[in-house]
Amino acid sequence: MKTLVILISGRGSNMQALLEAKLPVDRIVVISSNPNAEGLITATELGIQTASIDHRAFSDRETFDAALADEIDSYQPVLIVLAGFMRILTDDFVLRYQGRLMNIHPSLLPAFTGLRTHQRALQEGVKIHGCTVHFVTPKLDHGPIVIQAAVPIFPNDTDKTLAERVLQQEHRIYPQAVRWFLQGQLKLSARTVVVNDARVHDWVIYSPGLQE
Ligand code: GAR
Repeated sequence: MKTLVILISGRGSNMQALLEAKLPVDRIVVISSNPNAEGLITATELGIQTASIDHRAFSDRETFDAALADEIDSYQPVLIVLAGFMRILTDDFVLRYQGRLMNIHPSLLPAFTGLRTHQRALQEGVKIHGCTVHFVTPKLDHGPIVIQAAVPIFPNDTDKTLAERVLQQEHRIYPQAVRWFLQGQLKLSARTVVVNDARVHDWVIYSPGLQE
């Protein structure tokens, strides 16, 4: 059985985009680090199997990650995707799933790793911002990039308006990246990813038509 595991911590809008994308898998399981995550309700409403492992019940990252890995392994997934999973993972965890662990990050990596990406982009006065899907490696937000989408920043943008514009693109690129993986189109090397049988425009998405 071909299984996809989605890890969430909160709202779960990227998870929902993945669930609605009709991906070529037999089963999807959603696991949350937060038992009160809104995304768990959405997943249940969509008839998806869920589990939660409350990170607050663990004294350190190692024991939490070990419990999470046990839960994940019980499903034997082909791919694990982080969709707003707001936990820093231990190197052991990341290495265990290397090459089949993906993340979406709300910036054009390698710019603005970490948190508050939209606020920092506005503070720096950059004119283009966006989002990135990448494979996860031990160095936070630095793994090989699969696909990116860029959006313009307008003079009167706030964190909120910019986050919304980027999120729309997140919902486009994450299902695309996962589909490529499941179809065997991604060739991963140490630092880069080649997307086979796709046009350049499919993995570099810019939205110049967006109006202020
Ligand atoms: C998304 O914007 C995602 O890119 C970001 O959190 C949000 C989760 O929203 N992830 C990170 O910042 C990871 N470092 P969602 O729960 O509605 O998908």
